[in-house]
Amino acid sequence: MKGLVLSGGAGTRLRPLTHTSAKQLVPVANKPVLFYGLEALAACGIREVGIVVGDTEPEIRAAVGSGEQFGLEVTYIRQDAPRGLAHAVLVSREFLGEDDFVMYLGDNFIVGGISDIVEDFTATSPHASILLTRVPNPHEFGVAVLDDAGQVTALEEKPAHPKSDLALVGVYLFGPRIHDAVTAIKPSRRGELEITDAIQWLLDNGSQVRSHVISGYWKDTGNVTDMLEVNRSVLEGMERRIDGDVDAASELVGRVVIEPGAIVKGSRIVGPALIGAGTTVVDSYVGPFTSIEAECHLEDTEIEFSIVLSRSSIIGVRRVEASLIGRDVEVRPAPRTPRAHRLVLGDHSRVQISG
Ligand code: G1P
Repeated sequence: MKGLVLSGGAGTRLRPLTHTSAKQLVPVANKPVLFYGLEALAACGIREVGIVVGDTEPEIRAAVGSGEQFGLEVTYIRQDAPRGLAHAVLVSREFLGEDDFVMYLGDNFIVGGISDIVEDFTATSPHASILLTRVPNPHEFGVAVLDDAGQVTALEEKPAHPKSDLALVGVYLFGPRIHDAVTAIKPSRRGELEITDAIQWLLDNGSQVRSHVISGYWKDTGNVTDMLEVNRSVLEGMERRIDGDVDAASELVGRVVIEPGAIVKGSRIVGPALIGAGTTVVDSYVGPFTSIEAECHLEDTEIEFSIVLSRSSIIGVRRVEASLIGRDVEVRPAPRTPRAHRLVLGDHSRVQISG
């Protein structure tokens, strides 16, 4: 079994974070979302992984390299333009050979990995196996219709009027018959070769397509609420680990990770929380579900349920909540503006003035 990880895309999408144009490198609990996918493949015993790249190839290569850090052997496969997921399979023909493979979209996140699903595929050898999840916005996904027995009967790519709320998750398992399908289909309305159409072709041609409905799925939409939520779910699963320096005046409660080189002084950190390498936290409170990346500086600050990316500083600010703070950001309190109450009060007045 091989892995095929799709990490292309034009990289032009507007997001709140512009440090990287590769959406697959958006961090979740201080680690690019793509890395979780690579780890999930390695955890299934897969060694050979092809990564399909486009314009953002240099960024992806810089992050993943040879794949050794994941125990993988990575081959980069160039796709000249984002021509669809089925097109990515076409351009990977030589790499894939006649092997079964897991196709994993690099911007998708699946809580708990995919080992069970890969085992089921190996045991039952269907032509394809798909993952589905219930979503409130199925028109933004490929959508599957199942019969009463749970068999997939039809698939539609981003239908205006979805027939179910079961969205195709970006992880697919295929046997070599998929190569006939991606060769047979025609481009869709958006001009792409859709993997959804290729799987429909398999159905139409008598192939066996299995499906699994999962929960714990996330896809980067550039939406801050979603990012905070996936960050929260990953932090929930962390083990406590203190590799940095924490002084006696500090208190760490619960599942807190302090990366090497981080310094915590006179602060209270309540887990799950993650303090990145080389970050300093001084006279501050860091509350649950917070990830602070490397080389940040927090001082005299309270922060909770937030993500702070590398090299940012927050000084003298209370209180930050449900926030996403990018790289190299400075947050400071506004200078105090002189305030005065000018009062003309008649006899027997009673006033309440705040502050
Ligand atoms: C692609 C697939 C879609 C699937 C989605 C999951 O959409 O075409 O069927 O539901 O990935 O991430 P795209 O990201 O190309 O819009």
